[in-house]
Amino acid sequence: MVTIRVPASTANLGPGFDSFGCALALYNEYTFEPSDRIEITGCPPAFCNDQNLTVVAFKKTLNAAGLPFTGLKMTAVTRIPVSSGLGSSAAMIVAGARGANQLYGNPLTEQQLFALCASIEGHSDNIAPAFFGGLTLSLSEGGRPMAIRLPLHPDLRFVALIPDFPLSTQKARSVLPEAVSREDAVFNLAHASLLIAALEQGDAALIRIAMQDRLHQPYRRALITDFDAVEKAAAEAGAIAFCISGAGPSCLCLTKDPAFAKRLESLLSTPGSHWQVLELKPAES
Ligand code: HSE
Repeated sequence: MVTIRVPASTANLGPGFDSFGCALALYNEYTFEPSDRIEITGCPPAFCNDQNLTVVAFKKTLNAAGLPFTGLKMTAVTRIPVSSGLGSSAAMIVAGARGANQLYGNPLTEQQLFALCASIEGHSDNIAPAFFGGLTLSLSEGGRPMAIRLPLHPDLRFVALIPDFPLSTQKARSVLPEAVSREDAVFNLAHASLLIAALEQGDAALIRIAMQDRLHQPYRRALITDFDAVEKAAAEAGAIAFCISGAGPSCLCLTKDPAFAKRLESLLSTPGSHWQVLELKPAES
């Protein structure tokens, strides 16, 4: 039997669309055992079948290693909310791949496993932090995913705002334009580059400038009930920066203030929805 723990993650961080991600200390936990059938406990009934992303990743890992799949017994403790913009699908995929690899003697290398996970998810910005931990930059190089860890100033705190409604990544991607202006492309290029330095230095003024985005958030905000009210509360509470977490609907504030989350909670007034305020430490792995 093997036990695998995988962190939540936030992707994009404003301008780093499909590129930046950061692991957050909220973990799903899984145990895997060989079996002659598929037995799943700890998931909603709708996910207890071979379409479950963890099972899909488990099977693909064995397939890539040239090993037969006969079944598995899986127990899941799911803490990352599903379809929330906090990397639940990446965590499920990484868990299945790591579980299969460990259970069968690590036939695949870390890079092979990472590439397999990224191919299932379709983009690697949540997979990279879920797999390696920390703040990551990932990209596709010649069709293969690569990821590097980026430094993050230790004073920075992440506060997630998690609403009581889901938003599918597919829907959040469907509102994005196929092409953007050169002006917007350059804007994000410069701001994402600045963000790397700003997050390393922990410089609040630089982070505030750097986390502006023109590639996805202007199109997605209308999909998120009470987005304007949440953004306003974050500003009033003194957030260094505010962004949509991944494809949403959760949002994310950056702060250095230990009292920020409580203050934000007291300022939130969202007539059409309920939002949970949760401080989540960046996770090493
Ligand atoms: N970068 C992705 C997006 C994250 O914003 O659509 C969600 O998988």
